[in-house]
Amino acid sequence: MALHQMSQVVIGVPNVEETARYYTDFGLTGAREQSGDWGLRTLDGGEQLRLVYSPLRRLVELTIGVDDRDDLDRVAHQLAALGVPATRDGDRLSAVEPVTRARAVLAVVPRLTQAEVPATRYNGPGRLERVSERAPGVLRMAPVRPRKLGHVVLGTTDVATTERFFLDGLGFKLSDRIAGAGAFMRCSTDHHNVLALAAPVNFLHHTSWQVDDVDEVGRGATAMLEDHPERHIWGLGRHHAGSNFFWYLKDPAGNFSEYYSDLDCVLDDQLWTPETFEGSRGLFNWGPPPPPSFLNPDDLAALMVGAHSPSS
Ligand SMILES: [Fe+2]
Repeated sequence: MALHQMSQVVIGVPNVEETARYYTDFGLTGAREQSGDWGLRTLDGGEQLRLVYSPLRRLVELTIGVDDRDDLDRVAHQLAALGVPATRDGDRLSAVEPVTRARAVLAVVPRLTQAEVPATRYNGPGRLERVSERAPGVLRMAPVRPRKLGHVVLGTTDVATTERFFLDGLGFKLSDRIAGAGAFMRCSTDHHNVLALAAPVNFLHHTSWQVDDVDEVGRGATAMLEDHPERHIWGLGRHHAGSNFFWYLKDPAGNFSEYYSDLDCVLDDQLWTPETFEGSRGLFNWGPPPPPSFLNPDDLAALMVGAHSPSS
């Protein structure tokens, strides 16, 4: 029937243990396996992050959920038409993205159904949704726990080829574009699950994780920064493409991770018109100005010469 989910990412890092501790602070839960790899879970999506050793930080693999084997057959034909080799193994089809060398695995898995979280009560002019009590956002005590993996952003030295792989090869849909820089693409009802960004080197820019509301974005980031101010990258703000609230933090290997809430969703493709955004609109709608290190992370030069440069 269709692609339906960004199921999992595998990230390679030189410092697996240290990076795993960061993601457990971030709110994922998991444990070290005998191999030394880590599997980390979200509340609703199960094991959605795997950390494995790699001398340089990189996106090793992403898994995309599909409904049935017909989807795998269709994607195999599409990849063949692009001249991209693919390997079929029962309920899985895998192919390597030609530019970044990240492996995409399409797997037949059940659709993710999330229990409905009641809307947070916010007061507004003429609208009292919460009376005689403090806001939930200031009363919550529990650590923030991401609900699911949302998207992955990849820097690519050949954005046209990477886009073709996801759009024409795997069958992602185009949601919006940043003029001259990249494409927001979806394999689910989320506005984007992959963003390919033109870059001087192939690298993993960030992964993004859904939380309940803007208060959880703020609470999560605040807790992450309490003893580690160096983790701060950019936030709080609201993106224009996708509309989501965001706050970006940096893991000890140099990858960014984002808490997000209130992302645009597309249920009917006919009712969504992709746009191309110019200038700062491509980046955000409001928030503090993005630091230069957001688009050009501090370790890019080191990644370009292939040197190991953890940024912690
Ligand atoms: Fe993002």
